[in-house]
Amino acid sequence: MGLIEDLTALKNSAVERINDNNADIEQLRIKLLGKKGELTGLLKGMKDVAAENRKMVGEVGNDVRQTITELLKQKKRAQEEYELNKQLQAEKIDVTLPGSVHHVGQPHVLQQIIDEIEQHFLGLGFEVIDDIVDSPEVETDEYNFERENLPKDHPARDMQDTFYITPEILLRTQTSPVQSRSLEKHDFSKGPLKMIAPGKVYRRDTDDATHSHQFHQVEGMVVGENITMADLKGTLLSIMQELFGEKHQIRMRPSYFPFTEPSVEVDVSWNEVTPDMNPEDIEWIEVLGAGMTHPNVLRMDGIDPDKYSAFAFGLGPDRFAMLKYGVDDIRQFYLNDVRFLSQFNRKGN
Ligand code: PHE
Repeated sequence: MGLIEDLTALKNSAVERINDNNADIEQLRIKLLGKKGELTGLLKGMKDVAAENRKMVGEVGNDVRQTITELLKQKKRAQEEYELNKQLQAEKIDVTLPGSVHHVGQPHVLQQIIDEIEQHFLGLGFEVIDDIVDSPEVETDEYNFERENLPKDHPARDMQDTFYITPEILLRTQTSPVQSRSLEKHDFSKGPLKMIAPGKVYRRDTDDATHSHQFHQVEGMVVGENITMADLKGTLLSIMQELFGEKHQIRMRPSYFPFTEPSVEVDVSWNEVTPDMNPEDIEWIEVLGAGMTHPNVLRMDGIDPDKYSAFAFGLGPDRFAMLKYGVDDIRQFYLNDVRFLSQFNRKGN
């Protein structure tokens, strides 16, 4: 009975071919079981089978069809499972991998200090003047020097070697010109002038560890009736204790600035001061210049020095930051090296 052998041979070969098939299983199904497929082809031979054998051969044919159908189904399932696993494997998330770090920026260390100074003085009722109109970095000789009681031939001009743009226009060497600019605009019927002016200043210095051709100052000024040196000292003590800590003290030493008389140099104690301490154990460091505004300055700004008195001070955030953080080279602040800058976080430390 050749047909039964052929059917059995097809079954055996189908088992192998299904097993080995790694491509599209549907193609193989069509080839084996389709209308023009191999099984259909063989079963066409049924017409030649003797009548008494047809039933048996038919059963063998059905068995072959069922077996092949079932194997194809299994193979299809196995292939789908394999594909799914492959996809899952590819998309697997390894929760043990380190997460991606989001670097959050922070203000520059000098800006942090300026912000802190501003907050303190805002709390004392000062206004902050830092806009380009009232606090310009490109200044006139008149506001930077002459109105600050430094006429053209004044020897103290040498203290601040200047970048001139024209003989009358320069890069400001100090924030003191903002004194005159705010005095001019101030309406005394609304009370005394109390302002600070933080900003950049420029000097024709050769850059080294302690000098930079550009650095920062915070100018401060109070103009009103009966303003005294005690007001100056109290104001400076409050900002120094804000910046250095409450156990720190200040002292004033006589100094000279053309725009203040008397003028003082202000030191803050580097160590904390306790009441029973031997004064000689206090370590003083110089932090700023200040004084009672010279009557000439008030007069040039249209203020009557017999009616009003004033104090002013100029504080250097760069110097403060160097002292506070033990930075020994001012140029570090201007190199913009993130490794250096990211160390400073006055709010978070
Ligand atoms: N402008 C001075 C300087 O640059 C500092 C200062 C300001 C001193 C105000 C006294 C009063 O050195």
